[in-house]
Amino acid sequence: MKAMNVDVKSLLNQGVELTDRALEELLPSVDTVPASIHGAMRHSVFAGGKRLRPVLAMQAGITIAGTLPPGIARLGAAIEMLHTYSLIHDDLPALDNDDLRRGKPTCHKAFGEAIAILAGDALQTRAFEVLAGLDAPPAATVQIIGLIANAVGTVDGMIGGQVLDIESEHLKPTPELVNAIHRAKTGALIRVSVVAGGVFAGATPNDVARLTLFGSKAGLAFQIVDDVLDLTVDSAQLGKTAGKDEATEKATWPAVFGIEQSRADAARLIDEAFAALDAYGSRADGLKAVARYLVERKN
Ligand code: IPE
Ligand code: IPE
Ligand code: MG
Ligand code: MG
Ligand code: MG
Repeated sequence: MKAMNVDVKSLLNQGVELTDRALEELLPSVDTVPASIHGAMRHSVFAGGKRLRPVLAMQAGITIAGTLPPGIARLGAAIEMLHTYSLIHDDLPALDNDDLRRGKPTCHKAFGEAIAILAGDALQTRAFEVLAGLDAPPAATVQIIGLIANAVGTVDGMIGGQVLDIESEHLKPTPELVNAIHRAKTGALIRVSVVAGGVFAGATPNDVARLTLFGSKAGLAFQIVDDVLDLTVDSAQLGKTAGKDEATEKATWPAVFGIEQSRADAARLIDEAFAALDAYGSRADGLKAVARYLVERKN
């Protein structure tokens, strides 16, 4: 593989800064009535997420356009709202029943279950409102909205994956099952972050096909690593409760393949993902560096 001279840390820091600034502008203030829900939305959004999906969207935009497309931070912010909504609901007692998220009490621990459910719903609707107002050609905006709605939906999307995940607890997982869960519950939103960033920047159908292949592989690798970290890193470093997957007998990649095979699979998927970006040469170096980080991260 070609060596890359990308400072991934500063690239991630810039992405966090741009995303946080957009989120700050786009979310109602804590004293906007009804204040409790806006406090809850902000509690979860600003708890310290890595902002990997917005960063992927931005780097995909650079891969297609050559420079960071103006206004893409709002796309990233909308995707981060959807991701945070998925985390708030994932942590609810009816789903994973977690107390700790992004190093802070989960939304329902801090604000109660009713407000947490509604805060997740509200982040979802606000996300689509923001997407509808993107500074992009109308056809691109409509394409992005359709792709994202599909990726968080029930058919091979985030919600569908969460259903499979919950219904597979305490069953003996198969390779096919864990593959279907991971591609849907996590892979779909990662994939669409890359594709939507590309479409925002003017991607052609050929570009969309390449970014889709790249994003699918990187998204699956991301969830494999999430499973490995749950087993190998402590709660303080993760900012969420470690060891939960074994305790609840979740269908994880390591439960099927073991930790070493899981690590190898994630690394192989990233190498395969890189091949999809050959056509872009060094313009894809930032996107590749972020994908590499997805599997080398420690939290
Ligand atoms: C965690 O995602 C939830 C999964 C989809 C596995 P991240 O690891 O991106 O979490 P944050 O956004 O940094 O908190
Ligand atoms: C969560 O998967 C995926 C979504 C939030 C859609 P996990 O349940 O493994 O995520 P963590 O480990 O709680 O962050
Ligand atoms: Mg879960
Ligand atoms: Mg969980
Ligand atoms: Mg997990």
